[in-house]
Amino acid sequence: MQAQASAVNLAEAEPAWTDPVAEIDRLGAALLELEYALIPNGLHVLGEVPDAAARTEMLDFAGVTEPGERRRLDELLSTDHELPGIIHALDGGFIRPAPGGDLLRTTKVLPTGRNLHGFDPFHLPSRFAVQDGARQADRLLARHAADGGGLPETVAMVLWGTDNLKSEGGPIAQALWLMGVEPQFDSYGRLAGATLVPLETLGRPRVDVVITLSGIFRDLLPLQTKLLAEAALLAASAEEPAERNFIRKHALAFLAEHGGTMDQAALRVFGNADGAYGANVNSLVASGTWNDEDELADAYVSRKGFAYGVSGRPERQSAVLSQVLATVEVTYQNLDSIELGVTTVDHYFDTLGGITRAVRRARGGAAAAVYIGDQTRGDGAVRTLSEQVNLETRTRALNPKWYEGLLKHGYEGVREIEAHVSNTLGWSATTEEVSPWVYQELAQTYVLDEEMRARIAALNPKASAKIVNRLIEATDRNYWSPDPATLDALRAAGEALEDQLEGVEMAA
Ligand code: BEZ
Ligand code: MG
Repeated sequence: MQAQASAVNLAEAEPAWTDPVAEIDRLGAALLELEYALIPNGLHVLGEVPDAAARTEMLDFAGVTEPGERRRLDELLSTDHELPGIIHALDGGFIRPAPGGDLLRTTKVLPTGRNLHGFDPFHLPSRFAVQDGARQADRLLARHAADGGGLPETVAMVLWGTDNLKSEGGPIAQALWLMGVEPQFDSYGRLAGATLVPLETLGRPRVDVVITLSGIFRDLLPLQTKLLAEAALLAASAEEPAERNFIRKHALAFLAEHGGTMDQAALRVFGNADGAYGANVNSLVASGTWNDEDELADAYVSRKGFAYGVSGRPERQSAVLSQVLATVEVTYQNLDSIELGVTTVDHYFDTLGGITRAVRRARGGAAAAVYIGDQTRGDGAVRTLSEQVNLETRTRALNPKWYEGLLKHGYEGVREIEAHVSNTLGWSATTEEVSPWVYQELAQTYVLDEEMRARIAALNPKASAKIVNRLIEATDRNYWSPDPATLDALRAAGEALEDQLEGVEMAA
């Protein structure tokens, strides 16, 4: 059993299991997770409705059981509302706002083709998000404790705008609960600042939280940006013992070292300068023009080093940021849709990877644990980044259901596969948490398998060459050390693809 499991990279080949029963239990759970993973089937084509089988599958996964309701939703799914919606909008017509996000979360997203979000900024986070955010934050802490990490003094959290809109502010509420803070609402139910949860109620110390906002979050949620800043200041100012309030502990340490005011020492909400987006870690990785991983940390700090205090105005605050980064033990971001995984787009490693690298540098090389809060279904689950990359690799990149769905789209499908490979390299560069077998199996599936290599090369030679070059880059950067025969085969494939590309370009 151990040999079989290790052949598919689900266990180490040795040493021999000392507790086979526990290991088999663990394997069973790992297999179930793979079996139940939902994966996107190809790309969405505007104006094309899903066929009957796909509709049935979607409604099954959404948990629709009442036949009338099913029929109603099936009707909505089988009629195109998107092209008419766009045409209406282009004609200057009004498009009603509607909830966005996965059908799996709420069938209220149907029909699609409406304005993605109607939200009331005064009611975010919602009451449900506050309760669920506390549960999810506790789940993160429990997982880190189970991994032997104890209670972290500081968690670095990435907040996105769209995620918070789709979940009524779930991730915002998680950040607040880690600090032991709750939002307050006035008699009209409108957001009115933050209040401390008493330590006795919280039952643990207040965890320090350094927050990285996406540019979109900053643009969409100024009230919540201030709420988070106010939460950190409130916690830092509370007259509580430092060992039960890590925000205060770190703020006092900053004041002792640098002087200044509590307003400055308690800055915990960071993002871009006004008008700027992203950490540029993704562009560096895309260009391949970096030598040392610390350059990625530099990019992150230089782009995302602007603090948003209770005034809401961004200001570069390098000293506070580097002091708090040096205390981070956990970095964390939520996933809110099965459409996008951490290896689907480059934005996840750009910011979560970027801050993880910046933490490692601030801690003199000691790595923080990186977790993903999977909020896509059910009660949610916390995975290490490594587990998440493994899961996405197995259920997507190595899964014929996923890649055949993409290859139907031809050129763009191969580009999506290339993106998965490049983003995987981005995670190695920023976190070093990608297992070498991931690269080996990607190489096997897309390059060493000659039939597949010929197929993707015919559809998109440029992206195919990039896949090969990324795999070679991963060996150059020591994220993976294949045997010499594999490396030779990769190099030969790379050269053949480059030749083909030149031929293609000359002919064009
Ligand atoms: C956001 O919603 O904040 C976001 C979405 C996609 C990429 C980056 C950020
Ligand atoms: Mg981009």
